[in-house]
Amino acid sequence: MTLPGSPHLVRLAGELRLDGHSLVDLAHRFGTPLFVYSQAAMLSAVAAYHQALQGRPHLVCYAMKANSSLAVLQTFARAGCGFDIVSVGELERVLAAGGSAAKTVFSGVGKKRDEMARALEAGVRCFNVESHGELVRLDEVARAHGKLARVSLRVNPDVDAGTHPYISTGLKGNKFGIAHHEALDAYRHAAALPGLEVVGIDCHIGSQIVQIAPYLDALDRLLDLVEAVEREGLVIHHVDVGGGLGITYTDEAPPAADALVGALLARLDSRGHGWREVLFEPGRSLVGNAGVLLTEVQYLKRGPTKNFCIVDAAMNDLLRPAMYEAWMAIEPCRQRDGIAAETWDVVGPVCESGDWLGRDRRLAISEGDTLAVLSAGAYGMAMASNYNTRPRAAEIMLVGDQAHLIREREPIQALMSGERLL
Ligand code: LLP
Repeated sequence: MTLPGSPHLVRLAGELRLDGHSLVDLAHRFGTPLFVYSQAAMLSAVAAYHQALQGRPHLVCYAMKANSSLAVLQTFARAGCGFDIVSVGELERVLAAGGSAAKTVFSGVGKKRDEMARALEAGVRCFNVESHGELVRLDEVARAHGKLARVSLRVNPDVDAGTHPYISTGLKGNKFGIAHHEALDAYRHAAALPGLEVVGIDCHIGSQIVQIAPYLDALDRLLDLVEAVEREGLVIHHVDVGGGLGITYTDEAPPAADALVGALLARLDSRGHGWREVLFEPGRSLVGNAGVLLTEVQYLKRGPTKNFCIVDAAMNDLLRPAMYEAWMAIEPCRQRDGIAAETWDVVGPVCESGDWLGRDRRLAISEGDTLAVLSAGAYGMAMASNYNTRPRAAEIMLVGDQAHLIREREPIQALMSGERLL
């Protein structure tokens, strides 16, 4: 049976298996809600980028906001990746997982002084700077610490990535980046500040992008700027095209990573920039289809207008449906004979009507069954919260025939640690 997403996930004799492991067995062994990841799927996703970039100076910086669990970071560090971080907390995770600061780029619109100082001390590869104010602040912090901060300017190319408004970031109405028409001035500004060294240019136009054309438009806009900046005697060492490549949740057909990379490299070549180092910041496309969220059916509640399948995972475990009305496939882990399919809204126990994982799904299920929400490896656990004082789920990484517990289920006591009674 064909499932959306990963070739690592198959249904054999009615039973869903990820890398050969029975998902029902994992749910029974480790409990639910449970995130399960295939390390092999992550490695093959990153290999597609690396292979397409072979022979070119390049760095794939995994955008760890997609899934920042330590064993996931360790997997990508060992595969030769750098990291794209957006907070000092993410930096500490990179270091704890054995990643290299020298391969880490620091993105984000709101970097604070202490975050800059820690990143300089750790020796990050560069800061992706998003405003004049940030240039001034970074210069001050760098000089105060006797450091030179390497900077790349994040340019807002004003291209439409054709994705959900909440995850579209490269339009001029977005908070991100320096407006294209102001960027040359910002480079002059950066060059004049003694605590800074200009090293690159970057952009990130959005997420879950399923076309190549917006990337090519953005790259063209960046290269126009590179040429203008270099005419003034500055050198731009690297071009960072950001992340954003989409995955298949249902019937989307995003380009393969190697097709996207190939098209961008061809455009760099045709414009005479083929020698330049290229950086990518993929998140979702490295981990999204490598993971599932397992959940157990608690109650089947039939109503006058809707039938509700109440499961033990909720919006606090997987926020994407509630937040973006994202459609994520939901499959029974073991198919049942003798039960008729009915239409269900799959909902969690959280006290919000917005707490749903899927609406109007045809499922043949009964209480106690295990369901898998597919393509949950990206922006699942990373966006999980403790709303309703719900402990965060456990996580499993499959490596060959081993199922490693990479994060234990959060103990309830941990949810109250750090709190004080009056
Ligand atoms: N670089 C920067 C500067 C970013 O802001 C992002 C994502 C990425 C790279 C990685 O993008 P990706 O390859 O994962 O698309 N929570 C949303 C997605 C938010 C993306 C934010 N920025 C979701 O669940 O759809």
